[in-house]
This record gives sequence, structure tokens and C-alpha cells, in this order.
Amino acid sequence: MMLKAVIFDLDGVITDTAHLHFLAWRSVAEEIGITIDEDFNAELKGISRMESLKRILRHGGKEDAFSDKQCLALAGKKNARYVQSLASLTEASMLPGIRELLADIRAAKVKTGLASVSLNAPGILHALGIASAFDFCADASRIICSKPDPEIFLAACEGLNVRPEEAIGIEDAAAGVEAINAAGMLSVGIGPGLERAAMQLCSTRELTWNRLTDFWTSRTVSIRNS
Ligand code: BG6
Ligand code: MG
Repeated sequence: MMLKAVIFDLDGVITDTAHLHFLAWRSVAEEIGITIDEDFNAELKGISRMESLKRILRHGGKEDAFSDKQCLALAGKKNARYVQSLASLTEASMLPGIRELLADIRAAKVKTGLASVSLNAPGILHALGIASAFDFCADASRIICSKPDPEIFLAACEGLNVRPEEAIGIEDAAAGVEAINAAGMLSVGIGPGLERAAMQLCSTRELTWNRLTDFWTSRTVSIRNS
């Protein structure tokens, strides 16, 4: 089977905004007496803004302490701080190898998609100067079920007009890898703790077009022989 599309997560795959999400949540959480660390933050990767807040409140034993209105205000405060920190993003803020990979995929005439649940994704792509590198970006505001549900990856496949089994998905979050697998795509995980990914890489430095195509071919051959 031919590889027809590569679909990327954004935060933590294309740029290191995963850390900026953490810093913004940590400061808001501290103000309501909840401490979160990097380990706990791994559970928030790929999770929508409101669901992240719910998990933080649960973590601090305060799930019933705030009204819906107060929760919206807390999420709004986190987002304002996060957006403020995005001002430091420039075209140089991409993770190593990603710009080259996007160019190589385009040169091979394979489609590129984005499957990020972040409502800030369009602004980030614009700040990085790579909005035109994607053939289709799934609209996070239309997604009902956050990762690990496959909804956003399926929406990206549909927008690109490819079948999930013709596409690779790339993620830095365990919930995201689950979403790719549940969509029926081939998953590539970047970073530790992603044992459920079909291919695991330590960093985007290892994420080259050669590696992706070799992996795709070897997997297609092993399916044919099994
Ligand atoms: C995901 C991040 O990409 O987007 C999560 O991994 C984040 O940490 C989610 O909560 C939603 O982002 P935003 O920008 O809409 O608050
Ligand atoms: Mg991510």
C-alpha cells in the first residue's frame, strides 16, 4: 500500500510549546493551591484545555471546589498566559529536523495534515511561518472528543481525502498515540513512555523522511508476509 499522508500533532512535535502549556498551567494551579510537576504534565499532553483543568483539579483534590463559571475563568487565565508566552515564538522555534521533513514530504508529493486539539494551532503555524506547509489542518473547535479518541485524526484523514490505513500519524503524547492507533493509522511516537507507538523515536532529530519511508515499506512487507 502506498503512503499517502503524514499527519502531525503540533505541541511537542513541531515546536516545543508543550513546555509553555506546562508553565502556564503550573502558575494558575499554584494560585489555587495545587502543585503540578513535569511528570503529572505528561498526562495533560494532547488533552483539551477544559479537560486539562479538570485533571488538575482532580489531582489537587478540588474537583468540586469551583463553579463552571470559575472554571472557565481559570482556563481563560491559563490561556492568556500561554498566548503571552507564544510571543517568543519565531520561525527558529521549530524542533530539529521538522522543517526539512515537511519539505521532503512535499517533494515526495505525499500529503501533510495537522491533528492538534489546540485552539491556538492556526496562530502558532502562522508564527512559525509554516501554515502553507500543510494541505489540511483539522479544526480543533469542531472536535467533540479529545485524544485518545481518534476523532481529530479521522477528521484530518477525511480532509486530506485519504484512508487512515494509508497514513502515518506523529505524536509526543500517550493519548495521541492511542488516538492514532484507534484511527487505524500507523503511529510514530516522539519521546519516552510511548511504548504503544508502532515506531518510537527519542527526538525529532531522528524523524527523517528516509526513516519514515523505510518504516512504512518494512511494515507493508511484513503485513504481506504474515
Ligand atoms: C494540545 C496540548 O496540543 O492542545 C495540550 O498537548 C493542550 O496540552 C491542548 O491542553 C489544547 O490547547 P489550547 O491551546 O487550545 O489550550
Ligand atoms: Mg503534543
